Amino acid sequence: MQTQLATQVTPELRERFSTAKKVLVLTGAGVSAESGVPTFRGGGTSAVWKGMPFDVISSAQMVERDLPAVWEWFDYRRGVLNQVEPNPAHYVIASWQDRFPEFTLVTQNVDGLHRRAGSRNPIELHGSMWHARCIDCHARFEIPRIGLRPNDCMSCGDRLRPDVVLFGETLPPGAFELAFEVATQCDFCLVVGTSGLVYPAAGLPEIAKQAGAYLCEVNPERTPLSDLCDVLLTGKAGELLPRLN
Ligand code: OAD
Repeated sequence: MQTQLATQVTPELRERFSTAKKVLVLTGAGVSAESGVPTFRGGGTSAVWKGMPFDVISSAQMVERDLPAVWEWFDYRRGVLNQVEPNPAHYVIASWQDRFPEFTLVTQNVDGLHRRAGSRNPIELHGSMWHARCIDCHARFEIPRIGLRPNDCMSCGDRLRPDVVLFGETLPPGAFELAFEVATQCDFCLVVGTSGLVYPAAGLPEIAKQAGAYLCEVNPERTPLSDLCDVLLTGKAGELLPRLN
């Protein structure tokens, strides 16, 4: 099978999408790029915070070594997120949850923009910057968009940490298993704005393909997932996704 390259939504793609019954959308950092949130790869040098590279300050070791510094970094990132808005890609994805008999959004993003756009139950594989988790009893707490975040666990009083998957950590139990289950059953899988390099998330399109789903990738660039896809829509998610309607 050869991947079809397109810069516009073709009639076949629109027909496949509009007749789908079980839709899985997998998103990565690229879906938030047009909101002004930098992606992880591409776009030049990687982020440095107070002299520390992104993967050092966002690591499991750093939580053990200097939790206040980790919080300072995440407080900064939430401050940046408070200044940006969801873009048309987030909004149109949210609108699809009421359009199909079954619809699941799986995201690798921790920025919370899908929820802000109205997505009700995204599977957040890598957690969320808008939640904190107790280091000891693992209780989760929502962090308000405006106002102070909690410092200590309201259940046991121990310290809280950001509820995201950091470098050197594995995925929390449950989320991927659920996404895997959905992938084995979907008939249309849309892969949006991910480099397809980070597993296990990057394995979901292949699982969907094996289950017989039609695969469409939306990305300005080719990725390791492109050859697997039936069609690669080359361009920006915020411009192309609304045209699937
Ligand atoms: P990456 O930064 O690896 O990839 C972003 C992708 O988005 C690239 O393929 C870009 O070509 C594409 N892109 C850029 N602008 C776009 C646009 N306007 N529309 C559509 N696509 C666009 O981000 P992820 O694949 O999400 O994990 O990275 C996966 C994981 O790597 C992240 O969740 C993070 C990181 O390690 C954790 O933090 C645990």
